[in-house]
Amino acid sequence: MNPLELTGTELKQVLERVSARLCTFLDSLPDQPAWNISGAEEVARSVNKLLPVNARELDSVLDELFERLIPVAYNTASPGYFAYIPGGGLPQSGVADLIAAITNRYSTVWTAAPGAAQIESVVVRWFCGMVGYPESAGGFLTTGGSLANWSALTTARRTRLPDNFLNATVYTSDQAHHSIHKAALLAGFPVENVRSIEADADFRVCTKRLRAKIQEDREQGLRPFAVVGHAGTTNTGAIDDLEQLADLCDKEELWFHIDAAYGGFFAMTERGRLRMRGLDRADSITLDPHKGLFLPYGTGCLLVRDQQLLKIAHHVDGDYMPPMQTDNEFIDFCSISPELSRDWRGLRVWLPLQLHGSRAFQAALDEKLDLAEWATDQLRHLSLGPGDRIEIVAEPQLSLVAFRLLRDGVSGRALDQLNQELLEEINSSRRVFLTPTTLGGRFVIRICVLSFRTHLDRMQECIDEIQKALSALRES
Ligand SMILES: Cc1ncc(COP(=O)(O)O)c(C=O)c1O
Repeated sequence: MNPLELTGTELKQVLERVSARLCTFLDSLPDQPAWNISGAEEVARSVNKLLPVNARELDSVLDELFERLIPVAYNTASPGYFAYIPGGGLPQSGVADLIAAITNRYSTVWTAAPGAAQIESVVVRWFCGMVGYPESAGGFLTTGGSLANWSALTTARRTRLPDNFLNATVYTSDQAHHSIHKAALLAGFPVENVRSIEADADFRVCTKRLRAKIQEDREQGLRPFAVVGHAGTTNTGAIDDLEQLADLCDKEELWFHIDAAYGGFFAMTERGRLRMRGLDRADSITLDPHKGLFLPYGTGCLLVRDQQLLKIAHHVDGDYMPPMQTDNEFIDFCSISPELSRDWRGLRVWLPLQLHGSRAFQAALDEKLDLAEWATDQLRHLSLGPGDRIEIVAEPQLSLVAFRLLRDGVSGRALDQLNQELLEEINSSRRVFLTPTTLGGRFVIRICVLSFRTHLDRMQECIDEIQKALSALRES
């Protein structure tokens, strides 16, 4: 027998051994550290071995993975992971990935796997409905928000600009995720044509400044082209005034893209929908199911108000290709997106929604909004030493609060240093993992709650750890 061909019985044996490891991993998650990078270099170097020529025992490989490599990491699956933008990684999607990989369906060409392609189409249609897009809308799943942002600007450029577009300018906020700049550069816009407009005190892009910059650029003979707004910035979760941005883009005839990688799925909740009014007026929207839909990394999405534009931007023929669909109901993802062969991403989204229904996701997202508000209230009531105060630098607009410690007589770099020490002290418990950012030149600590595994008990622990760290800092 060819050793590469597993029989059903052999596969079952492999899966039993793998699933035993996965079950132990899952069940121990609440007790695992929220981060652990001890011996990082040594662990990483241990992987640098020669290409194995001969077979190795499965258990030895699993030992290496589960006992050595996987534990040394930021624990993005932990309920105590409040860093960057969490998500958690639904194991149900892992099951979908297993099915997708083993059945190996070719989902980007409709004729090759109509059911698989349709699963991906329907997922995109659900997302379009969620953001309030019309029937004409469409989109595709990407590996993440960065690629969705890049595809958005590439689609905009290919459909709205001539081949020589080097005088076209792109506008976003100084709070934008760096993938917006990367997207603009990779879409071919010159670096000096990408504008970062200063945000207001609530970290929302200042529409007045944006309007003035557009005017100034027109007067300079440039061609204002696209505005990228945010429904949830990475720094603070700020939501730009999307209605105002949409009005401006209408008036100035600009492409309006919204990076809703973090915030988009909050549109499933009533509070989220209200806070993101205007989302449906964008020409294109980036979503990141591996954030707000709690999926494993590797799942992003681009939605476009007019699906035909995706076809115009991406369709290129190959003589060897089967005929593409002409009926809009059936999508060949290869002709509306950059990729041809790829994983069957749609199943990873579809399966958990089938198993749990959208209501379970909506409830989990509502819980995150509540937890961020609860944490903010608790931060205001911490017990502090004389001369100390907690400043809430960014109130939650979604599920993120940013704060710092103020101390009488301490300012500037010394205050930043004090907060850096506070952060290190909080994280030293390893029950929680928080990360910092810089807002208006100030070092601040963020708590971003977005894992489906994080509930009030861990948020309480987070506040307890902050309280303990404040006391330790006072005594040191
Ligand atoms: C607002 C925002 N946009 C884009 C991205 C990039 O997304 P990805 O990491 O999926 O490429 C992120 C990532 O955190 C983000 O927070």
